[in-house]
Amino acid sequence: MNTGQKPLPLSISIVSTEPGHAVSLCQAVGEVARERRWLAAVEAFTEGETQLFVQLNQAAGVPQFVALSGPKVVGWCDIVRLYPYPGYEHNGRLGMGVLAPWRGQGVGRQLLDQALNAALGAGFRRVELEVYASNIAAVSLYQSRGFGVEGVKRAMRVLDGRVDDVVLMARPTTDGPPEVLSNTRVVGESSSWKVTL
Ligand SMILES: CC(C)(COP(=O)(O)OP(=O)(O)OC[C@H]1O[C@@H](n2cnc3c(N)ncnc32)[C@H](O)[C@@H]1OP(=O)(O)O)[C@@H](O)C(=O)NCCC(=O)NCCS
Repeated sequence: MNTGQKPLPLSISIVSTEPGHAVSLCQAVGEVARERRWLAAVEAFTEGETQLFVQLNQAAGVPQFVALSGPKVVGWCDIVRLYPYPGYEHNGRLGMGVLAPWRGQGVGRQLLDQALNAALGAGFRRVELEVYASNIAAVSLYQSRGFGVEGVKRAMRVLDGRVDDVVLMARPTTDGPPEVLSNTRVVGESSSWKVTL
């Protein structure tokens, strides 16, 4: 696995997301959503929705980080507990984005690494995500951090004349083999890694 990290631009710091970041986070997500390429949403969430999202994540102790340039949120990464079902508690769903002017400068990789480092402590043993097949930068970043492809939803989105597949990717939160998880038995296996419970 490539563990190399570019040094962050000097003006950027990465911190845990706090309710006080919600307004700027809302604007950042809206900006990336309105690009209509990378996120399923094509409009901003409301400030109230974003505030609630941050507060619930904070209360749940799940990883959520923002990249700040001064007070402005220029990137985010969170891993949330998406499935409200018994037996699904170890699954986290990752979401992230970096504002266009800040891309390609190491911000995304450092956000991702911080979130993944915090994932095991939050009880996640498996982190999954969905990414558009056309999103070469994101797929490359995820692969470089050990995410494998679990499946593809063919022609899942048709927007602005573009047909896009959704790629399902996931990785365990340990670097070792899944057997290091205690009291586990294999219940499923793919070509890239096993799921154990
Ligand atoms: C995907 C995204 C988060 C990456 O963040 P970033 O700050 O631009 O990425 P970094 O500069 O940290 O680069 C990390 C890695 O991403 C990949 N990458 C970044 N830009 C790339 C590009 N233009 N082409 C190919 N790979 C690229 C590379 O693997 C790179 O590693 P390297 O620098 O060692 O080559 C960012 O491009 C983004 O926000 N895109 C729009 C929103 C989005 O796609 N969110 C994810 C939805 S699943």
